[in-house]
Amino acid sequence: MKKGTCKKLAVLTSGGDASGMNACIRTVVRYGLYHGFEMYGVKHGYKGLINDEIFLMPYGAVSNSVHAGGTILRTSRCPEFKEHEVFTKAAQNLLDKGIDNLIVIGGDGSFRGAQDLHEFTDLNVIGVPGTIDNDMGYTDSTIGFDTACNTVIDAILKLRDTITSHDRIMILEVMGRDCGNIALNSAVAGGAEYVIVPEAPADVDEIAASVKRGFDKGKTSTIILLAEGKNYLKDELMQKVAASTGRTVNHMALGYMQRGGIPTMSDRVLAARMGQRAVELIECGQSGRVVGIRGGDIYDTTIIEALSLPKDFDRQLYNLAIVISK
Ligand code: ADP
Ligand code: F6P
Repeated sequence: MKKGTCKKLAVLTSGGDASGMNACIRTVVRYGLYHGFEMYGVKHGYKGLINDEIFLMPYGAVSNSVHAGGTILRTSRCPEFKEHEVFTKAAQNLLDKGIDNLIVIGGDGSFRGAQDLHEFTDLNVIGVPGTIDNDMGYTDSTIGFDTACNTVIDAILKLRDTITSHDRIMILEVMGRDCGNIALNSAVAGGAEYVIVPEAPADVDEIAASVKRGFDKGKTSTIILLAEGKNYLKDELMQKVAASTGRTVNHMALGYMQRGGIPTMSDRVLAARMGQRAVELIECGQSGRVVGIRGGDIYDTTIIEALSLPKDFDRQLYNLAIVISK
């Protein structure tokens, strides 16, 4: 445990933007000020840390931001931050200003950078999980996941109108990297007929035959949710489903639509609760830890532990999705 020597705290967002990041920044700034910290923001994530884009964040800096998607701090991907010389020099930009506390809001790549800063520099660093993917094993949810799923659900609803009107089939591809959580949860909540995720095998021939059986039974439309981690099946799927049904099969990648937009209540509250714990950890002089949620309770653990835990796949929910959708 390292002890902060002064009451200055900076916050940055890193990696893919996720709705709810602003609600977290707002909490960190306001709760930090409440605890007597002078608050700073770093623009453009680790890139901005390297380039010394560090600025004071008074109370008003986060006004009117709780509802906004994206991140008011901007973000970036920054591969060069993995280099020892680069991140130590970047940390020095904070330390030169007497700032020795940093909260990093981002995903697993961002947490690896946070661990390096914790381990090899004089900064106290705490991580908060901000990513739509919900792909980190130590936490039940991440900031932005709920909003992203709601965007997918809305897309399912709208696409259903068109494919029903035209007697078509839709393959809707959703994000999530190697994690099927967005696809699975959106499929269950949005009533998609099929879901294909990286965590479970997919029998394309069986799906094609099953879609045909569905239409034979009187189904009027079919939506297949395809997780990004299995998108290499797209062409085979389109071709086989079209062949078995004789219908037009459309494909659409929802893409960056899932990242932006007004954060849901659930993401905003999660962001606020996680931001609160992050400031409390800094206040106690903690470092090298991340905030998570388990069974509804906010908790914290080491970054090392967080990064080592594989994401559990909810097989029960997957099995349910298969049973109730066809
Ligand atoms: P996320 O944090 O949303 O998962 P990334 O995986 O892209 O997004 O990580 C954000 C950034 O963190 C990336 O640009 C990555 O290069 C950077 N990063 C910094 N340090 C490391 C590290 N030690 N290992 C991996 N990524 C790192
Ligand atoms: O990690 C969030 C995410 O949106 C993933 O779901 C997706 O694979 C990736 O980021 C896209 O990254 P980029 O913004 O670099 O295209």
